[in-house]
Amino acid sequence: MHPNAEPSSNVPPSPDTTVTGKPRILTGDTPTGQLHLGHYVGSVKRRVELQDSHECYFIIANMHAFTTRVDQPAEIRRDCLEIVRDYLAMGIDPKRSAIFLQSEIPAIAELTFLFAMLLPFNRVMRNPTLKDEIKVKNLGDNYSFGFPLYAVGQTADILAFRPVQVPVGEDQVPHIELTREVARKFNQLYCGVSDQAEDKDHDRLGGVFPVPEAFVGKVGRLIGTDGVNKMSKSLHNAIFITDTFKQIKKKLGQLYTGRQSMTEPGDINNALFQYVRTFITDADRVAELERAYAAGDNIGDGHIKVEVAEAIDRMLEPMRERRREYEGDDETIIDILRDGSARANAVTEQTLAMAKEAASLGFFDRELRYR
Ligand code: TRP
Repeated sequence: MHPNAEPSSNVPPSPDTTVTGKPRILTGDTPTGQLHLGHYVGSVKRRVELQDSHECYFIIANMHAFTTRVDQPAEIRRDCLEIVRDYLAMGIDPKRSAIFLQSEIPAIAELTFLFAMLLPFNRVMRNPTLKDEIKVKNLGDNYSFGFPLYAVGQTADILAFRPVQVPVGEDQVPHIELTREVARKFNQLYCGVSDQAEDKDHDRLGGVFPVPEAFVGKVGRLIGTDGVNKMSKSLHNAIFITDTFKQIKKKLGQLYTGRQSMTEPGDINNALFQYVRTFITDADRVAELERAYAAGDNIGDGHIKVEVAEAIDRMLEPMRERRREYEGDDETIIDILRDGSARANAVTEQTLAMAKEAASLGFFDRELRYR
């Protein structure tokens, strides 16, 4: 640099620099429709709690939605706005946390290309979550090239933020494992980090990417109201935050336990009791229900279901109310996304500059701006 030149504001900061000085987290969702209770207890609740102690970034993975719905762009766009409404309703505060669109973060697309080179193709295809999706969604061998690429893309979603932690549901853990492999590989190849280095030391040893941890909450996998499968919109076993008490009661009524009578000892590890422990907040009441159920002490499934429905309804009431404030107002939602995307880009452009520098791809500085 010329001795009198202004120091460039694009000089990459050290890897642990955050805007707020708090540790960073990144997580998010693919827009597939409204969020349901499984999303809330599995991940969103944790995010709401982390908003004060962490610098939070929440990604709306709209490009991932194209992997299986390439013919439905308008629906995907609508689902993006709906997900933001759900986030706001569930308690995510856009002033503290950045909610942003994957498609508006060029560094993610660029890192995806680079990371794709670091991963053996067979390794990507071994991902159990991908395999599962191929089966569940009946993709056969007709999926697009972009479908497995999304798993590589997810490593870029995450690493672009150099987060310490990724709060997710259980099904996402294989993606985080792949992410950890990419971080290690990159740091070893381009930052001189030894292949003997421990994960926690990568940062300190000069790696661009900290090796991030998955954080799976207490309820990593909420069973759906069919009592069998994971709660999922496409399996029609989900309770949505906009559901009324009546709808919740009706859906829970279908939850199958196989129990025949009020005096038959019940299995407190069944799906109904996952709901009891997840949604009834009074610990003494939970213990009493468990005791009575296990003993077959004159307590019917129907009664418990109503009690669970009431608990869920109490939890959802303030959410439904908050959600109503944003109904029909797309402009406010888009403003939130613009602001969140600009904040996300501030971080990811730094990361990209660091990664490009490390991989001998750092030729020029650049600046991004939304209007
Ligand atoms: N694949 C996640 C899902 O379907 C969504 C997602 C995309 C994500 N990128 C992410 C989650 C990064 C955590 C971190 O729910």
